[in-house]
Amino acid sequence: MKRLSLLALFISASAVFAAEDPKAAARLAAFNKDIKPIIDKSCISCHGKDGKRPKGGFNATTLEGLEKGGKEEGKGITWGDASKSSLYTLSYEGATARDQEKAMPPKKSKSEPLTTDQLAKLKAWIEAK
Ligand code: HEC
Repeated sequence: MKRLSLLALFISASAVFAAEDPKAAARLAAFNKDIKPIIDKSCISCHGKDGKRPKGGFNATTLEGLEKGGKEEGKGITWGDASKSSLYTLSYEGATARDQEKAMPPKKSKSEPLTTDQLAKLKAWIEAK
C-alpha cells in the first residue's frame, strides 16, 4: 500500500513538472528538429563526436553540454539572450569574422560556418519567449 501511494506521488509530481515547464519541452522539441542538425554538421566533429574529448571542454552532443558551454567563454546558452551565449556568439564570429581567433568553426578547419539563415534560427531558438 505504501509503495502504491509513493508511486502515485511520483506520477503526479512528474505530471506537475511537465505541466509547469512547457517551455523546456518546446525547447527540446525545437532543438531536435531545427538546431541539432546544424550543430551535427558544423560543430560536432570537434565537440564530442564518438566520445572523443570535446575541444575547449565544450560538449555539443547534449542539450546540457550546450547550455553549460566551454572552459573560458561562459555559458553556452543563456536562455533569452543570444549575446550571452557562447554557442551563438562564437558561431556568429565564425560566420562573419572568420579571422577572429575564437571564431567557430575555426578558420583552418574544413567544417562549414553557419549560414545567415542558420544563425537566425539559433538566435530565435535561444530567445524564444
Ligand atoms: C575543427 C574543430 C572545431 C570545430 C569544427 C568547431 N570547434 Fe569549437 N572549438 C575548437 C577548439 C580547438 C576549441 C578550444 C578553444 C580554442 O582553441 O580556440 C573550441 C572551443 C569552443 C567553445 C568553448 C569556448 C570556451 O572556452 O568556453 C565553444 C562554445 C565552441 N567551440 C563552439 C563551437 C561551435 C558552435 C561550433 C560549430 C559552429 C564549433 N565550435 C566548431 C574546435 C572546433
